[in-house]
Amino acid sequence: MPDIGYLNGRFSPLEEITISPDDRGFLFGDGVYEVIRAYHGVPAFCGEHFARLVRSASEIQLGFSLEQTDFQRLLLTGLQQSGYQEGKIYIQMTRGVAPREHIFPSNAEPTVFLSFRKIVALSTEVCHRGVSVITLPDTRWGRCDIKSLNLLPNVLAKQKAQEAKAFEAIFVKDGMVTEGATSNVFVVKDGVIITPERNHLVLAGVTQQRVVMLARTKGWDVQFRPLPISEFLQSDEVFLVSTTIEVLPVIQVNGQPILNGKPGPISTALQQKFSAHVSGLTLA
Ligand code: PDD
Repeated sequence: MPDIGYLNGRFSPLEEITISPDDRGFLFGDGVYEVIRAYHGVPAFCGEHFARLVRSASEIQLGFSLEQTDFQRLLLTGLQQSGYQEGKIYIQMTRGVAPREHIFPSNAEPTVFLSFRKIVALSTEVCHRGVSVITLPDTRWGRCDIKSLNLLPNVLAKQKAQEAKAFEAIFVKDGMVTEGATSNVFVVKDGVIITPERNHLVLAGVTQQRVVMLARTKGWDVQFRPLPISEFLQSDEVFLVSTTIEVLPVIQVNGQPILNGKPGPISTALQQKFSAHVSGLTLA
């Protein structure tokens, strides 16, 4: 079965899809996106991803007429056509096709593009061993709560991390940890789980919210609050979360081990809890 694409109402093999060079996503990054993971054929946390897509679109004044049930149906149809049980669904919506002019076009229809691919998950070994991260200045714009296509600082940061043989770059703005280039960050200190407060500098992560819920179900104390870099560097545990990496322990920051350089007990417990949670997902 091929990777499947969807463009403005039509499914086809992904490689057959072509997009206009005048698409504003291509010219300006004028659009928003989501990444959804499918487990055993079930698109995970559809409602949350849809709500965030609607919000992102609304924040950039991008007209959006899709209902959640249609959205869900699109995801299921694409998945079925691809044949993938474990899938990675990418959704991108742009302000449409028009001659290049910064001002919004008056009559362009939004471009709606989806792709359905097999997920390439991290190896069990990496998940168990944990990963290294580096910290970098957060040079992004002031609306990182919008999941916009403008990812150049994230791309540069991720590349820097790779060149430093690290898995992720953690952004720091005005002495505070914001998030990873492609993930949200958690730390644990004295048994308390802390993740940076949700504001315009951070994406409200779908995985982050689920992990908070799972931790609270266990009765653990979770705080959304500002996280100074000094506190981050002194924490007992650090872990990353996102749709693609799920819960991933961090064992080294800027070449220095976190505690003993092994995944901490709370990170590991939440990693296992999250795996169990997604393996039990069913179609709503
Ligand atoms: N990114 N913060 C940033 C900057 C991200 O890019 C992502 C995910 C997250 C985690 O969000 P969620 O748990 O909803 O996936 C946080 C996706 C996976 C990507 O761009 O590929």
